[in-house]
Amino acid sequence: QFAQKDGFRFFMEKEIYEQSNVVSDCMLGRLQDEEILFEELDSSILNGIKEINICACGTSYHAGLTASYLFERHSKIRCNVVIASEFRYKEPLLNKNSLFIVISQSGETADTLEALKMAKNAGLKTLVICNVDNSSMTRLADNTILTRAGIEKGVASTKAFSTQTVVLWMLSLYFAKQNDKISQEVLQKELHALREVPKSLIVSDKMHEKTRRLSKRYLHGHGFFFIGRDVFFPLALEGALKLKEISYLHAEGYPAGEMKHGPIALADPELFTIALMPENLLYDKIKSNVEELSARDSTICTISPLEFELSDDFIKTQEASHYMLEFFEMLVVLQLLSMEISIRLGNDVDMPRNLAKSVTVE
Ligand code: G6P
Repeated sequence: QFAQKDGFRFFMEKEIYEQSNVVSDCMLGRLQDEEILFEELDSSILNGIKEINICACGTSYHAGLTASYLFERHSKIRCNVVIASEFRYKEPLLNKNSLFIVISQSGETADTLEALKMAKNAGLKTLVICNVDNSSMTRLADNTILTRAGIEKGVASTKAFSTQTVVLWMLSLYFAKQNDKISQEVLQKELHALREVPKSLIVSDKMHEKTRRLSKRYLHGHGFFFIGRDVFFPLALEGALKLKEISYLHAEGYPAGEMKHGPIALADPELFTIALMPENLLYDKIKSNVEELSARDSTICTISPLEFELSDDFIKTQEASHYMLEFFEMLVVLQLLSMEISIRLGNDVDMPRNLAKSVTVE
């Protein structure tokens, strides 16, 4: 078993370190010089499509939420995202003009599979973004995009999420191009950023050491708020979920601008706020949200390329040319931080209590 971990302490750690490579595999042949290519997709996939519906669970749901920003921003297609277990029983309206996308690492999650069946039965076009070929979902859906992350063993998903997000980002550009909604200039800028993703996923010794040191401070307290705006909101949800899953500490992800509508009442020094502060997206907005929390004495850890005078702790990320590159580097920081906290608490990082890798029952 040790050999399989290639010298890493846990599969999760190995999988965090693998992300840079698997994301390169995932982009291979799809990220071309001047365009995005998905040969596996039916070329008429967007014919008659006016909206996108996404269904998923857990971490895959967070990839879906991230995608909803990118689909609307780039492809100009309205996009709704629903947790699969909610979708199933809400008597959803299924319009034939919508493309139904499910996202799943395993391709076997019962609720997501049922949602896919409902969409198929209603005659919708379907697409699955999946890590396991020949899984129940890839056999059922009209179209499949494989994420090529390799086998993921850690129950807390890491590399599946980064590859899903890269696929969805590429897909938003592919759709944008098909619908003639993106200029060649913007597309080139996006493609350039995509090529840099593997670099932003590299784990540096310095970053790993920093999260190891910080993990000592963040073991106690009333709980955690992970906050961010735009795509950094789903990333905040993912950071909180990682911490809950493997450290068993209470954590919530929240849209930064929403804190004042309730959660800020909890602020005190025992409340830890992890603030995602990208330089390239709404920096001033999130800054003022963090200032409000700091004024109420919350303990603040900022993750940002820019130093912020009110933070108690600061994890410095690289300056980057695109907010999605900041997104991927911050993802790695959040994964490492939760793993180091979990290790310090003596938990089994790869097999957290009460959780299963794949939930095949309702
Ligand atoms: C389980 C796993 C999560 C995963 C979720 C969805 O709860 O513990 O890590 O995100 O299922 O799994 P899927 O295979 O559909 O992505």
